[in-house]
Amino acid sequence: MNKLNRRDWLKLSGISASLYPISTQLNKLTSKTRSAIDKDGFVRLSTNENPYGPSDSAREAIKESFENICRYPTAWIKELESRIAKMHGVAPENVVVTGGSREGLKSCGLIYGSKGGEIVAPSPTYEALLTYSDHIGAYVNRVPLDKNYGVDLEEMERRITLKTSLVFVCNPNNPTGTLLSARKLEDFVRRVSNRTMVFVDEVYFDYIDEENYPSMIPLILESKNVIIARTFSKIYGLAGIRIGYMVAREDVAVRIRKAHMAGTNIPALAAANAALDDTDFYKMSLAKNKECRQMFYDVFDRKGIQYLPSHTNFVFFKTGDMVDVVQKKYFDQKVLVGRAFPPYLDWARISTGTVEEVEAFVKATERIY
Ligand SMILES: Cc1ncc(COP(=O)(O)O)c(C=O)c1O
Repeated sequence: MNKLNRRDWLKLSGISASLYPISTQLNKLTSKTRSAIDKDGFVRLSTNENPYGPSDSAREAIKESFENICRYPTAWIKELESRIAKMHGVAPENVVVTGGSREGLKSCGLIYGSKGGEIVAPSPTYEALLTYSDHIGAYVNRVPLDKNYGVDLEEMERRITLKTSLVFVCNPNNPTGTLLSARKLEDFVRRVSNRTMVFVDEVYFDYIDEENYPSMIPLILESKNVIIARTFSKIYGLAGIRIGYMVAREDVAVRIRKAHMAGTNIPALAAANAALDDTDFYKMSLAKNKECRQMFYDVFDRKGIQYLPSHTNFVFFKTGDMVDVVQKKYFDQKVLVGRAFPPYLDWARISTGTVEEVEAFVKATERIY
């Protein structure tokens, strides 16, 4: 039996967001995620995390890093920036390590959203940069997805004006998990970056299923107006420690560096370094994610539920009912699924977790549908 009544659920699901501090309560309920299905019995598949992380080597590195917590992290940041630069074939000056990629997104929202900036972005997509820009008075021109639920690059390009200060592309896109054609994206970025800055969010890049799919990072070497976001939160399972990075031309990187104030921390830097060394964990995460995604596809196929094949650690599926109603049904089965993404109010996003967690989702789906 659920210990939570409907009122509690409403609080947790965000329906009465204006009345209750939802996130605090949701965190209380779901922070003990390592033992996947914990004391409360809730399975958290709502926020695109990787509960296989952190790897044992990252845990060890975090513990060892305590020794250096009395220091500011500047030297360690420089070291990691150099390592990341080498990995991507760019210069250390092109890399800015941030407190989660979200901090970099926020900095870019500040730089390109202020002083009458206009931003063109798909909708729905990952909103951090856009909400921040909105917040400081920018006009965010949100472009609906195309009929195949893909990012509509043609329409986005049509909406660029002389005032456009940044174009935001999330590829693969959150919440749909869709991937743009490599050729189309590269042509778009090359063309559009002659007119304005292009931000390509590649946070889910590691999960892309297409072989040899290109990152937009090499365009930095051609001095293009492009910023790329990456993170340690997803494939490396380090969402809770906050570390990610931006890659950009040196002058742009300097601006991002100046705009971000909080930065990351010593344990996060140690964890990121250990994560980069641990190719076994990386491969295991990737394999488990594939397995879990297939479990989603299988149950959706069995039940005749429409879904979008995904290049990420989540799947967007058609619920057949308003998402809050379906969320409540899953909640009653002790499974947390993603929030609503207007205008797709009868779709929901479900994140991969451990195989055990996804089994719980599959069972719940069998019961609900
Ligand atoms: C597309 C996208 N970009 C960026 C982020 C931010 O991730 P983080 O700040 O943990 O690096 C997320 C988080 O889910 C995301 O989905």
